[in-house]
Amino acid sequence: MTTSSLPRHLGIIMDGNGRWAQTRGLPRLEGHRAGAESVRDITRAARQLGIEALTLYAFSSQNWARPADEVKGLMELLRDYLRDERAEIMDNGIRLEALGDTERLPNFVRDPLDELRAASRGNSGMVLTLALSYGGRESIARAARQAANDIAAGTLRVEDLDCNRLGSYLPTAHLPALDLLIRTSGEQRVSNFMLWEVAYAELMFVDVMWPDFRREHLAKCLESYGERERRFGLTSAQLAEQSDV
Ligand code: FPP
Repeated sequence: MTTSSLPRHLGIIMDGNGRWAQTRGLPRLEGHRAGAESVRDITRAARQLGIEALTLYAFSSQNWARPADEVKGLMELLRDYLRDERAEIMDNGIRLEALGDTERLPNFVRDPLDELRAASRGNSGMVLTLALSYGGRESIARAARQAANDIAAGTLRVEDLDCNRLGSYLPTAHLPALDLLIRTSGEQRVSNFMLWEVAYAELMFVDVMWPDFRREHLAKCLESYGERERRFGLTSAQLAEQSDV
């Protein structure tokens, strides 16, 4: 695969942990535990392939409403992940970032998260962003509030608030545009993930539960991505003209 056909920014909705566990007669948390293994494998593969940015939907704003035991278990898994993957992240030049309302995370997750974000800030290999306590609508609402504040303060003019300007208030503004969004488990929804950023992303719904999703599945998705024609609202003929220049 040539680098040009690789997505620069890959987002993944990691779905199906609960069903994976249920079909094995296991508690849901075992599905999340197995899902953490997929996170490790996919992160490593993405780094090796040369993907610039990988964004994983790990915990949504709405997931706080799940049973308390499941939320607690997920938080503990995140804490363990941050502890166990620290060396791998640093050794591979990965910059760890987070999207979402991380203030809501318990200290035992937020502290190691903040520490690793700070420690990895200078790394330039790949940006791994964990969406935690994240919602796409919430993220757009926050951007709108910040823009409104700037208008009220006189540092932004209403007529200058176009798509580019509003997008610059989003927490993903510094990342490459989202090129490919994969959702595992066969469900075909976006579930409040990167609603703004998904505008021209290619969408792929894969019939594999997240705990079973490994680099070979990712490779197939990337192959299929390479075969798609991304037109960004133009016609095929226009694209052909552009590539002739
Ligand atoms: C969705 O599956 C998955 C989640 C809500 C959590 C994702 C968490 C992990 C993959 C593990 C921990 C993360 C990291 C970064 C180490 P679901 O529970 O909605 O599955 P279901 O639809 O089958 O019930």
